[in-house]
Amino acid sequence: MFRIKGVTALLSMTALTAPAFADDVEVMHWWTSGGEAAAIAVLQEDLAERGTGWTDMAIAGGGGDAAMTALRARVVAGNPPTAAQMLGMSVREWAEEGFLGNLNDVAEAEGWNDVIPPAVQAFGTYEGEWVAAPVNIHRPHWVWGNAEIFAEIGMEMPTNWDEFFAAADAMQAAGYIPVAQGGQAWQEATIWEAVVLSISPDLYESALINADMDALGSAEMAESFEIYRRILSYADDGYAGRDWNLTTAMVINGEAGMQIMGDWAKGEVIAAGLTPGEEILCAVVPGTDGSFLFNTDFFAMFDVGDDAAAAQRNMAAAAMSVSFQETFNLAKGSIPARTDVPSDNFDACGQTSMADIVEATESETLFGSLAHGHGQPASVQAAYIDVVTQFANSDMSAEDAVEALVASVGSAL
Ligand code: BGC
Repeated sequence: MFRIKGVTALLSMTALTAPAFADDVEVMHWWTSGGEAAAIAVLQEDLAERGTGWTDMAIAGGGGDAAMTALRARVVAGNPPTAAQMLGMSVREWAEEGFLGNLNDVAEAEGWNDVIPPAVQAFGTYEGEWVAAPVNIHRPHWVWGNAEIFAEIGMEMPTNWDEFFAAADAMQAAGYIPVAQGGQAWQEATIWEAVVLSISPDLYESALINADMDALGSAEMAESFEIYRRILSYADDGYAGRDWNLTTAMVINGEAGMQIMGDWAKGEVIAAGLTPGEEILCAVVPGTDGSFLFNTDFFAMFDVGDDAAAAQRNMAAAAMSVSFQETFNLAKGSIPARTDVPSDNFDACGQTSMADIVEATESETLFGSLAHGHGQPASVQAAYIDVVTQFANSDMSAEDAVEALVASVGSAL
């Protein structure tokens, strides 16, 4: 049983007579969909067992934009939460501003340096000190497919864009929405960056990670917008403003055939009582096998004084234990941030990710996701996403999008 502010009725008699909760953590996060809520409940329960209560500060909004705005407002008002969910580049930015507490003692006691991949460590540490606990590794470039619809059209999950569009056409002819899409800037960017990766890992690295102007202005970049335009043409009319989890629900309930989205969509499949890889199929976005984009959810601890330190350490230790990383990631759809968690209990899609990340690390095709805060600092990331969303919501040509991208990123650097 865990304590949520104002819900004292949940306290058991034992807790009242012998306080089980040394203190609380107030946690700001954006995990509000069915799958996300199921995953965070695992953390709340784990903490309760360690004697730490939980005050929930959930700010709805996929991708975390609204949560980051709320976090900034709390910090500016001099009242930061004890802990906050954040993506890679934000960890670095908050650490640079001097707001984050040091987690080195927990990291050392629990051996984080030995079990967390260097690419993830790079975002959780600042100037060699651990400042945030990584709870997972998400892969944002997946296609989720309704198995019954694929069976009805007599096709397999696509492995290249020709097959993807052939399946979309067949689904359309059979009366389904071929590609369910959500209408928010981060969702649009999630699809577009996957298309860029599908053209080549080199293009992704040079244009999105290195912000190389030649790559940004290239014919290949124009091709990425052409392919994205074609994907958009399979969306239904209700696409504007739609949340990602409602979009996943369209695939789950058989209204739509496919969705391109990160593996947090798998959390929705599991929360709906279905088996990923069976009723809902998974395949990496056509042309992206062999590469791996990643984003990691971190919990950073704000430096709010010694009173909170014990609870913060408890939370960091809980979030990094092997058993928690397994249970949490099974519900969340991601893979563990620790490399020593057994893969046996993960479904086929999760096992694919676990094997692919090793391969991509070796072949140097493991990159941070731009759409999910692991490619560029927030201000530069916004310069990319602005153009992508402008493109998605107008009839802008691919050539004009490339020109706008060069100008937008050029002025943000
Ligand atoms: C986060 C996921 C989250 C998704 C949708 C991503 O940026 O890393 O944990 O489920 O956004 O909210």
